[in-house]
Amino acid sequence: MADSLPPTITIRLITPEQTYPLRHAVLWPDKPFEYVKVENDSEGYHFGAFRADELLAVISLFVDGNMARFRKFAARSDYQRRGIGTQLLNQVIDEARRLGASTLWCDARLDAADFYRRFGMEAVSDVFYKGAIPYAKFSRTLL
Ligand SMILES: CC(C)(COP(=O)(O)OP(=O)(O)OC[C@H]1O[C@@H](n2cnc3c(N)ncnc32)[C@H](O)[C@@H]1OP(=O)(O)O)[C@@H](O)C(=O)NCCC(=O)NCCS
Repeated sequence: MADSLPPTITIRLITPEQTYPLRHAVLWPDKPFEYVKVENDSEGYHFGAFRADELLAVISLFVDGNMARFRKFAARSDYQRRGIGTQLLNQVIDEARRLGASTLWCDARLDAADFYRRFGMEAVSDVFYKGAIPYAKFSRTLL
């Protein structure tokens, strides 16, 4: 059970394999474990938010030229809405800029749209579905 104080978090680079349990538990618990693996995971930068050695949230960044995409952003359910996602996404924004990207985008679950708007991201596509879950592409410039 999480305590009520905001956790002290450190963000570290992790392996793709370390992201899989949280990707699966938080994002796609009804799908097979293999479903959460991304074809080019080996080319990504994977960040984990830790409290001590406990992994509480993950996000994966992929940079292709000046386009940076993040995927599979997930915080453990008992640690959501306590600022951890904000720290991780700020890290991704900094890293994407450092790597020369000028645009940051993601396929956003509409459930999380208001979270992304806090970071200046806006919908740039129509709504589409992955299974039963509605999404839109969200994007912002990094300049
Ligand atoms: C989306 C997610 C990664 C955000 O991480 P988080 O640690 O919960 O986010 P934070 O606590 O930093 O949120 C910052 C603010 O945004 C709000 N917020 C968080 N998730 C939100 C959501 N889904 N919708 C609207 N607001 C949200 C928080 O309440 C907080 O508001 P406050 O500053 O007024 O307290 C996390 O909630 C999560 O894993 N959700 C389930 C999976 C998911 O939807 N992933 C994204 C798929 S595209």
